[in-house]
Amino acid sequence: MHLPSSLRVLFLSLATLAVLANASPTTDTNGYRLARGLPPLPPREFGRNKPGFEPTPVLRSRASPSPSSIVRYSGRLQVRSNNGSTIGYVQDKLGLPVSGGSDLRISITASSTRKEQLSIVATTTSLPSPFYIGASTQDSGNATIGAGSSNFLYFSNVQRTDVMSRPIEIGNGNASVESAIWAINPMTKELTAQYVNPDGSLPTTFVVHDGASSRLYFVGDTSVAFNASATSAKLFVVD
Ligand SMILES: *[C@@H]1O[C@H](CO)[C@@H](O)[C@H](O)[C@H]1NC(C)=O
Ligand SMILES: *[C@@H]1O[C@H](CO)[C@@H](O)[C@H](O)[C@H]1NC(C)=O
Ligand SMILES: *[C@@H]1O[C@H](CO)[C@@H](O)[C@H](O)[C@H]1NC(C)=O
Ligand SMILES: *[C@@H]1O[C@H](CO)[C@@H](O)[C@H](O)[C@H]1NC(C)=O
Repeated sequence: MHLPSSLRVLFLSLATLAVLANASPTTDTNGYRLARGLPPLPPREFGRNKPGFEPTPVLRSRASPSPSSIVRYSGRLQVRSNNGSTIGYVQDKLGLPVSGGSDLRISITASSTRKEQLSIVATTTSLPSPFYIGASTQDSGNATIGAGSSNFLYFSNVQRTDVMSRPIEIGNGNASVESAIWAINPMTKELTAQYVNPDGSLPTTFVVHDGASSRLYFVGDTSVAFNASATSAKLFVVD
């Protein structure tokens, strides 16, 4: 199509108006991005008091064929053992331990059509960037987990990765990370993880709690992947 430039300008301004009209001032920008199948915006590296919130909508998105409603979950991450007893809450502290600090506050944006491969973002935190909560190998660990393997990943604050992304190497390659691994049960608000291995395979992904270090880890096999102090754990979003 070859429009005269004046027409093209008119068309572009109309398109811009349409996009702006769509974005009410109270609209959650990340929610709108998710509704359109786009990943959430990365948290701001500056003005750290409210990471994860973008004050100014900058919409470059295509029109969404089927609008879906946005569901926002926010609160704390409660860790329970398999028998339902509460172990603790994920703490706003390096290593994201389950005790010994103040509770981390998080937010998750899902939609009526998308409840999986979600990212958890820390909303008010004293942690240094990055602000997503996911899996990291740290210390050049093996990024492949699975049945029969003793490999494990750290529950950690990580950079944002795309939906269904394989682990991304960060820094000088010392660690591989993944953020979009979470699914939420809208009724119970239980979070479950689905990690993507470097070869693209989807291992059953368990969260375990290690009482000795008071930390959480991801494993592909609870019977061989960790030492005796680790037990299966469940994660819930609570107020
Ligand atoms: C539940 O499980 C945890 C960890 O496995 C254990 O410490 C606790 O005693 C159990 N509580 C009950 C009521 O069985
Ligand atoms: C990582 O672990 C997988 C599964 O146990 C294994 O097949 C692979 O050889 C390991 N890679 C390295 C570099 O050790
Ligand atoms: C990363 O790995 C390099 C060697 O490849 C090492 O010198 C450096 O200390 C490591 N950094 C961290 C933060 O582990
Ligand atoms: C394993 O267990 C020991 C002793 O309980 C503990 O010191 C250690 O931190 C645990 N975790 C790992 C990854 O070895």
